[in-house]
Amino acid sequence: MNHLKIKKIVNNIFKNFNLNNAHAKISADYLIKAELFGAPSHGLARLRMYCERLKKRIINPKPKIKVKKISQSISFIDANNSIGFVAADIGIKTAIKNAKKTGIGLVAIKNSGHYGLSSFYAEQAVKKNLIVWCFTNAPPAIAPYGAKKSLFGTNPICFGTPTGNKVPFILDTSISMINRGKIRVAAKLGHKIPLGVALDKFGRPTTDAKKALKGVQLPIASFKGSGLAWMVDIMSGVLTGANHAGKVKDPFDDFTGPQNVGHLFLVLKPSLFVGKNYIKRIKENIRTIKRLPKIKGVKEILYPGQAKNYRYKRNLKKDIVIPKNILEDLKKLNAVK
Ligand SMILES: NC(=O)c1ccc[n+]([C@@H]2O[C@H](COP(=O)([O-])OP(=O)(O)OC[C@H]3O[C@@H](n4cnc5c(N)ncnc54)[C@H](O)[C@@H]3O)[C@@H](O)[C@H]2O)c1
Repeated sequence: MNHLKIKKIVNNIFKNFNLNNAHAKISADYLIKAELFGAPSHGLARLRMYCERLKKRIINPKPKIKVKKISQSISFIDANNSIGFVAADIGIKTAIKNAKKTGIGLVAIKNSGHYGLSSFYAEQAVKKNLIVWCFTNAPPAIAPYGAKKSLFGTNPICFGTPTGNKVPFILDTSISMINRGKIRVAAKLGHKIPLGVALDKFGRPTTDAKKALKGVQLPIASFKGSGLAWMVDIMSGVLTGANHAGKVKDPFDDFTGPQNVGHLFLVLKPSLFVGKNYIKRIKENIRTIKRLPKIKGVKEILYPGQAKNYRYKRNLKKDIVIPKNILEDLKKLNAVK
């Protein structure tokens, strides 16, 4: 199905579930963008979950989002349990505004929910010629190094910078070997997951997605990945006043209350220390790395975000293929009034 057509359907579904026009549009835009980025685990596969949470009012369909100015550079947002897309969209736009004024914009957000891909927000800052870091915490999926039980989320780390050409540098990576959404989609579709990304509940390596969801996911790079996940939990949760230390609720499995996810956005003017030379310097940096001798089978050394950008442009011209069970969800949700 054409992406504009699906976006219209998703927009209507969000309105059926009581989001106002602006919030429904933001949420539908981001959900479909995940599909176009080639991240279906953060796209339509999550729609039913968002709607169930909206229906139960544990995502607040009519939030009173408060933006408190702490200084010219720093703002603090209480999202009042809004859908994460909306809170994060306000957050990144506020951080960009602050950075344009003072050189640095820092925004902390509490009482939010799952916000999709960090790239959505990073690319907005980069399009305004700014450098950006985005952090968010997530429900327990990963055992801290040395522990038997999951506590950290897949807590993505995202960094973006203008490159002086049309394709931004956006490193957007979860700290798990594989993101949890991919395991959920595999479980839903009955597909296997790669060996070495998760353990079952008995601590044995598994390729069964359902068993992996009941067990623990493995972090990238052992204790180093565990440390990075911990850092993200501190920055997004401890610092912001949001849930942390394993208390962010799983949006699919725990309907006992709002998630209270935290996000942190830090935006900088690239000219802070080297003036107008930044673009010249980053171009030189990327050129040097791309010219390195390549290992067999590699045609081009890509910088983070490059492949996703190509994929996005390609996907804009193609139909989105919707799995049968998700198509059923769409039909049911669209019929709800
Ligand atoms: N909101 C949440 O709670 C949450 C939690 C986890 C993940 N996520 C999102 O899930 C998405 C996927 O995460 P992921 O860890 O599966 O990402 P991934 O493994 O697909 O990519 C990680 C990074 O590596 C880069 N990359 C990939 N191939 C490359 C190559 N050949 N050369 C150079 N760079 C390359 C990508 O551009 C990306 O920046 C992210 O957008 C993340 O924000 C969200």
